[in-house]
Amino acid sequence: MKKIGFIGLGKLGMMCAEVFAEEYEVHGYDIYPKISDTVKVCNLKDTIENSDWIFIAVPTPHADGYDGSAPSSHLPPMDFDYTNVVSVLQQINQIATHPKKVVLISTVLPGTTRHYFGHLLEEQHSFLYNPYLIAMGSVKWDMVNPEMIMIGTEDGNWNGVARDLVDIYAPLMHNKPRIQVGTWEECEAIKIFYNTFISAKIGLANMIQDFAIKIGNIDVDVVTDALAQSTMRIMGPKYMTAGMGDAGACHPRDNIALRWLAEEYNLGYDMFDTIMRAREVQAKNLADYLVQLAQKHNLPIVIHGKAYKPDVEYCIGSYSTLIGHYIKQDGHHALYVDPLADNKTDVVDIIDRPAVILMAHNRKVTYGYTGQDGTDRDYFEFLPGSIIVDPWRREPTREGIQVIHYGNTRNN
Ligand SMILES: NC(=O)c1ccc[n+]([C@@H]2O[C@H](COP(=O)([O-])OP(=O)(O)OC[C@H]3O[C@@H](n4cnc5c(N)ncnc54)[C@H](O)[C@@H]3O)[C@@H](O)[C@H]2O)c1
Repeated sequence: MKKIGFIGLGKLGMMCAEVFAEEYEVHGYDIYPKISDTVKVCNLKDTIENSDWIFIAVPTPHADGYDGSAPSSHLPPMDFDYTNVVSVLQQINQIATHPKKVVLISTVLPGTTRHYFGHLLEEQHSFLYNPYLIAMGSVKWDMVNPEMIMIGTEDGNWNGVARDLVDIYAPLMHNKPRIQVGTWEECEAIKIFYNTFISAKIGLANMIQDFAIKIGNIDVDVVTDALAQSTMRIMGPKYMTAGMGDAGACHPRDNIALRWLAEEYNLGYDMFDTIMRAREVQAKNLADYLVQLAQKHNLPIVIHGKAYKPDVEYCIGSYSTLIGHYIKQDGHHALYVDPLADNKTDVVDIIDRPAVILMAHNRKVTYGYTGQDGTDRDYFEFLPGSIIVDPWRREPTREGIQVIHYGNTRNN
């Protein structure tokens, strides 16, 4: 049986390790105590000694203020921090007495592996860069239904270890993913540009929403649905629904970090600055819209969903809090209702008066592609006299409540 080790049992690492444990013996280590029914959580030495393969899923964080939950386009561009990965590689050198196949999953900018990691590992070990296209809330599903498996090798060629890794994944997969072998740099680039393409796509869809609001007589869905089906030139339909901006622990920060890379390599332009600035102005536009409604009707503003998406607790990189930031900047105050949110600032359980309610979360839009039950439920009771602003345009009419499909100005 293949012996797998996981270093870093966080949001990504633990769930992925548990998927591996369905087929293999898996040991895992984290600097914090972790519990699992299937992964043998132990110390670093035992994890390394009991594993032929060592997957690294430690954080590669950005500095505070760079996650996208508040404006960041005014901050100087910065690279991620790779200290954790470097320290793990050094520890593998110290502890391992036999050759190990080391696989880095953590997200890094193009050029990082060769610059920081490639020369660090002793020659007896091999090193692959193998990032995942995984989103919070659907980690296990995404892991076994990937669009592709990226395997970065030093020279970009298939080697024995890369083949072995494909064999390891084979029994775990529920689909038949495309295998994409490239240099370390190519795979680093595939991963980060995959994420930032999504941000650009959402930015464009939301720009159409902005125009719908300003010009009138436009249902943004008519426009984006037509574009989404234009598969001859404009890819597939995913992320072609205007609504809340791109969010979470990965996408905003990847764009923010690519601003640094563009400067580092003197590209002469900074497309990611534009994408992130657009994301911020789009959030401000929605915030201004909410504030105007609140002022006109003398109602408080409530954001339904503070975490960056439904069913997860993570407020990192949240678009809701970015909108909250601009509401505050307008001299108003926003409350949030979200039973899961891991940041409780301004979060309440009930709203005892009518309000302007931004429906930030929509399970169908977020998880529809996984086939999960997409039934949405209210996080609190909406009182008559409230005004729902639905940026996804899915809310049905409700008695005594005005429902505004933000982005559909056909009948205004
Ligand atoms: N979360 C995702 O959906 C996702 C998706 C794709 C890629 N990634 C990337 O994967 C990496 C990890 O992300 P995450 O969301 O799991 O982060 P996380 O912060 O949730 O988890 C990282 C874990 O590593 C542990 N850790 C830190 N230093 C360590 C060390 N020296 N030794 C052992 N454990 C250590 C932490 O205690 C934590 O439990 C990041 O580079 C991230 O960008 C995450």
